[in-house]
Amino acid sequence: MGQTSALREWVARQRPGWSLEQPFYTSEEIYDLERRGWLAGQWYLLAHRSEVAESGSFIVREVLGESLIIARDSEGTLRGFYNVCRHRGSRICDADGHAAKGFTCPYHAWSYRLDGTFRAAAALPQGIDTRQLGLQAVPVREMGGMVFASLKGDLRHLEAVQPVLEPGLRYHGIPEARIAARRSYPIHANWKLVMENFLECYHCFPAHPEFCSVMRQAEVIGRVPADGGEAWQREVQTWFKEEADPDSPLSIRPDFPDAYSAGRFPIGKGRKTQSRDGEPVAPLMGRLQRFDGGVSGFRLEPFIYVMASNDHAVMFQILPTGAERTDVILSWLVNASVSAAEVDVERMIWLWDVTTTQDKVIIERNAAGVRSRAYAPGPYSTLESATARLVGRYLQGISAGDSISGHAEQ
Ligand code: FES
Ligand SMILES: [Fe+2]
Repeated sequence: MGQTSALREWVARQRPGWSLEQPFYTSEEIYDLERRGWLAGQWYLLAHRSEVAESGSFIVREVLGESLIIARDSEGTLRGFYNVCRHRGSRICDADGHAAKGFTCPYHAWSYRLDGTFRAAAALPQGIDTRQLGLQAVPVREMGGMVFASLKGDLRHLEAVQPVLEPGLRYHGIPEARIAARRSYPIHANWKLVMENFLECYHCFPAHPEFCSVMRQAEVIGRVPADGGEAWQREVQTWFKEEADPDSPLSIRPDFPDAYSAGRFPIGKGRKTQSRDGEPVAPLMGRLQRFDGGVSGFRLEPFIYVMASNDHAVMFQILPTGAERTDVILSWLVNASVSAAEVDVERMIWLWDVTTTQDKVIIERNAAGVRSRAYAPGPYSTLESATARLVGRYLQGISAGDSISGHAEQ
């Protein structure tokens, strides 16, 4: 209790529009409270549907230090469980696999169906109600080819998000895609430093020359343009009217998005896709009939992002794994029917691989400085408004009690 009231005091002290005080980035105690509360209520992007496509297939993934099994049951419905046996708690599965009949714990061979219900165990005493011995469920949901899971998230939240995200994900053919490449970028920093970085482009010109060379948008979100960004606004409007696929269900990406949004904008500079020279790296995806040079961004803050070019898409998974550890996993998707020979993987991954590798370096340098006794919060610039909003929502979320009241233990 002393611990939670101390956190309340810390939250109350934070200055709106400034970065947080040191313990929010370094403290094991604060991370532990977040992990059991506010972070447990968030949704995470755990997989692409192709990783768990058929009935009987299952994957094992970690969320906030908890091992989860995500399985497709015999009805084709996705199910999620803690990877914890109801007998004496053993891990049940170690790796992804396929099990037509369900899971058997390797310790004493208790078995469970694909929907998590108890199936069989030897030598149980009489009178045990085995209906009470199913695997403990976690909420999971498939949406537009993405597999989302949470420890304590509210499915109604995802239902509200669905009309915004799903039509665009389907338009881009995400459900019919396959993973053509995946790279991991484990970052030695608190998840807030990762997200603060991810949501601002103030650092783009100093840190990301490649990104700035590809994305015309960087000239607006990466510095204050002389004309206040009006030229870019006009360019986006003209692109949307004259070049963008008119059959897309997505509109222009909103400037000041809520915690979730979907929308399109042009890469610019005549580029067809997010490659170094702007030339395609794979055949068209989804319902696109021609290259229109747009990129669609999908976001469900804080941790779920997808960027879809015309010929490939990038799935960003961000997973807090410790007080000062965060996993960032990028997966590049192409149409499943496209052969390996038709995809230029190196050119496809170039932009986000080089950019994320740079981000890992700058975030870890940020974390090193934040550990110093000299660290003090600083003001966010006008180019860090999305970062400031996320930090504000986080403080509001935890002070609303999500992670510092009794909710944490439920
Ligand atoms: S712990 Fe799983 S069967 Fe005993
Ligand atoms: Fe960056």
